[in-house]
Amino acid sequence: MIKKVESYPLYDDGNHKVFWLGVEEAEDEKGILTNQYLIIDNDEAALIEPGGYFVFERVLRNVSSKIPPTKIKYLIYSHQDPDVVAGMNLWFEYAPLAKIVISKLWIRFISHLAILSGPRTIGIPDEGMEITVGNSKIKALPAHYLHSPGNFVFYDMKAKILLSSDIGAAAFPEGEWYLFVEDFDRHAEFMEAFHKRYMSSSKALRAWVRMVRNLDINMIAPQHGAIFEGENVKKFLDWLYNLEVGIDVYEHLFKV
Ligand SMILES: [Fe+2]
Ligand SMILES: [Fe+2]
Repeated sequence: MIKKVESYPLYDDGNHKVFWLGVEEAEDEKGILTNQYLIIDNDEAALIEPGGYFVFERVLRNVSSKIPPTKIKYLIYSHQDPDVVAGMNLWFEYAPLAKIVISKLWIRFISHLAILSGPRTIGIPDEGMEITVGNSKIKALPAHYLHSPGNFVFYDMKAKILLSSDIGAAAFPEGEWYLFVEDFDRHAEFMEAFHKRYMSSSKALRAWVRMVRNLDINMIAPQHGAIFEGENVKKFLDWLYNLEVGIDVYEHLFKV
């Protein structure tokens, strides 16, 4: 069983802060572990990958210890999976001024979560967009087919942190957990099966890596698993570039 860990600061220059928002005992018994992130710039905040019902209380507690949830300007979702969006109704209540930001592909689907959210949703166009939080900019960059067909990653231009959605996800073996990758080769073993099956296309993966290599990155922080920093950022991108995934691996299943 993993231990309870409260939030951890990934960046703090006084005006601009990025936090990883903790993990609790027994969350690994309720499905794959998830990471949530909070960006605060001056008096505004954005919550990235808010998460599902089981983590809501923990995430709310850790957000509230940094900033009143009423200061959340955006709830930002990389894609439509339950581990990302299932707590949306709750956040709608606790962050009454926040707008939902998600790929425009998913706007008409999230209303099935019983959210009457028309004026409170912003659909990200396929090519991405810039999101302003306080005096800072977050770039929503395309990550389509990795794995969702309408998928984005979020680059915090001030902190130089790339919040990478399911790209870089790892499923830890039972009882194991760490926040930062240390032994890359061992960590890759926890990522490989996830990427092969959940990512759709090697072509998309390589296009994404080529785009990301143009950014100045201090950390890559995924929605599951551990954070890459320093030389592990490059190791991770090189590993991804050479990985075969999705239909390129599983085409043989299509037979009758
Ligand atoms: Fe996902
Ligand atoms: Fe996920």
